[in-house]
Amino acid sequence: MCGIAGYVGKKDGLVVVMNCLKRLEYRGYDSAGVLFFSAKGGSASNGQNDQAELKKSPGKLTNLEKKVKNSCATPLLASIGHTRWATHGTPNETNAHPHADCHQKIFLVHNGIIENYRELKEQLEKRGHKFKSQTDTETVVHLLEDNYDKGATFEKTLDLTLKKIVGAYAFGIINQDEPQKIYFARLGSPLVLGIGTKEYFLASDQAALAGMAKKIIYLKEGQRGWISPTGFKVWPNKPIIERLDLNTEVAQKSGLEHFMLKEIFEQPETIKNALRGRLSTNGVKLGGLESVSKKLSKIKNLEIIACGTSYNAGLIGKLLFEEISDIPTSVSLASEHRYQQIAHRPDTGYIFISQSGETADTLAALKKIKTQGYLTLGLVNVVGSAIARETQAGIYNHAGPEISVASTKAFTSQLTILALMALCLGTKNKNKKELARELTLIPNKVKLILKQNDQFKALAKKYLQFQNFMFIGRKYNYPTALEGTLKLKEISYVHAEGIAAGELKHGSLALIDPHFPIFTLTNKNSVYEKMLSNMEEVKARGGKIISIATAGDRKIASVANDVIYVPKTLEPFEPLLNSIALQLFAYHFGVLRGHDVDKPRNLAKSVTVE
Ligand code: G6P
Repeated sequence: MCGIAGYVGKKDGLVVVMNCLKRLEYRGYDSAGVLFFSAKGGSASNGQNDQAELKKSPGKLTNLEKKVKNSCATPLLASIGHTRWATHGTPNETNAHPHADCHQKIFLVHNGIIENYRELKEQLEKRGHKFKSQTDTETVVHLLEDNYDKGATFEKTLDLTLKKIVGAYAFGIINQDEPQKIYFARLGSPLVLGIGTKEYFLASDQAALAGMAKKIIYLKEGQRGWISPTGFKVWPNKPIIERLDLNTEVAQKSGLEHFMLKEIFEQPETIKNALRGRLSTNGVKLGGLESVSKKLSKIKNLEIIACGTSYNAGLIGKLLFEEISDIPTSVSLASEHRYQQIAHRPDTGYIFISQSGETADTLAALKKIKTQGYLTLGLVNVVGSAIARETQAGIYNHAGPEISVASTKAFTSQLTILALMALCLGTKNKNKKELARELTLIPNKVKLILKQNDQFKALAKKYLQFQNFMFIGRKYNYPTALEGTLKLKEISYVHAEGIAAGELKHGSLALIDPHFPIFTLTNKNSVYEKMLSNMEEVKARGGKIISIATAGDRKIASVANDVIYVPKTLEPFEPLLNSIALQLFAYHFGVLRGHDVDKPRNLAKSVTVE
């Protein structure tokens, strides 16, 4: 949550920072701000010809863009920016970052939460510091000012300040005494350094630097330092410099209206990427798990821990591991698991699923499990992210950056990898070859669903006036139904609930009437007839039915009001197809309702706070 950007180099830092912020806006979009130096002058002098300009705006980044339209930053002087997802204090101009000390000398942007800010603020107020905002962040900039007053160098001031802070942070800091430098620090929130030719960048996510920086440093927990046009310094341990291969295209919509649509349409490719090099005639090879293969072979139980869409993928993962690998598997919400008293579970391996690799609850659950000595595996999309680093071994999605807040391609890529893991662990499964072969056919089957895009749009139009939806399914299609509701809620703001079809008559059927349409996931599979019975029960009560069904099924049209057909596949892989159908419905429904589907209200892409 919250995006940080910083630049020092020959270019106009304001332009660079605003560009980076645009790519980071998925992290938070309730207010934004920048600090740069301009020859034209602004609020406070830096002692030379240039003056610090602090510009902030509530709302989306476009508001800030309007505000800085006629400004430019002096080359070689530092610029920082921030896009916010509020935790402490309403999203107004005062609470927007950067925050400044009492004398407008030090400016700071922050991603994370300062847990001991109340105590610190009280002490600082007693010492005469005047606070303007309601944020936890402002405490840190006053603390820097307080420590700096003691005549220390700013490097030492930073070290001293960080020692007093409890919580999670990624900071970008400008001290007007050194206007060519951006100081930074990270603990618990992501931050990367980009390296160009005589120019340096700071960003919350590598995708912000695509096409700009040539090399990258993924800052490790506790690392801090500074960048200037002539170089950089990182301490306390030596940083690792890596090549940054991302091109600008990954951060653009490729001519499509929204990132969400672009990402839905990328799925034939992202599923292929998840399979690439991992599935061959010789079976499944998961390089990322090789280092723990001995430990894995002794595992008798699995537990999957995740949040949001990744949790829904975990629910499907459980069914895959139980059916394909014959391994008892449980699934937990990270936010619950981290506070639960967990019974000792010998021979259990833990899988942490996270697109971003930085979700605070998932990370906290992982840290807790690690202390108990269990095997920990990660299924993560963002390379080098905290969960990828903290787990003992793992598999990357290789789905490319997912910008839209509602997860689509990361979800189906998680499902693909869970299927591969299940095949890999299911050494005794007799249907392995058939399952593996079918998995390779999925990308082309996805293409057939995407071809029906206009049909989904028409369907969304037809049901646009409804405020409530129910989604039902059995077995693999029950968690798929849950994911369908999540997509619709996230981007359409209508009420949707997912029910295991067999549970319908135990309460939820009472909701059904002509104003409460119901999606049924009725593929031709082992529970097809049971699903048809559930549909009849709904129909008898006047409910409107929209069914996702298997191509060629003629029977279903006599029960359902509307049918969308998906290609036939093996039952364990039905979620890969059905979820894409539900994504397209949700997308069009949200767009037709006039929402910004890439940035739904109140949400953020990576939830780095509890
Ligand atoms: C946020 C996102 C969801 C995501 C969830 C878990 O709520 O908006 O799309 O599913 O976090 O994120 P993770 O990165 O851990 O998969």
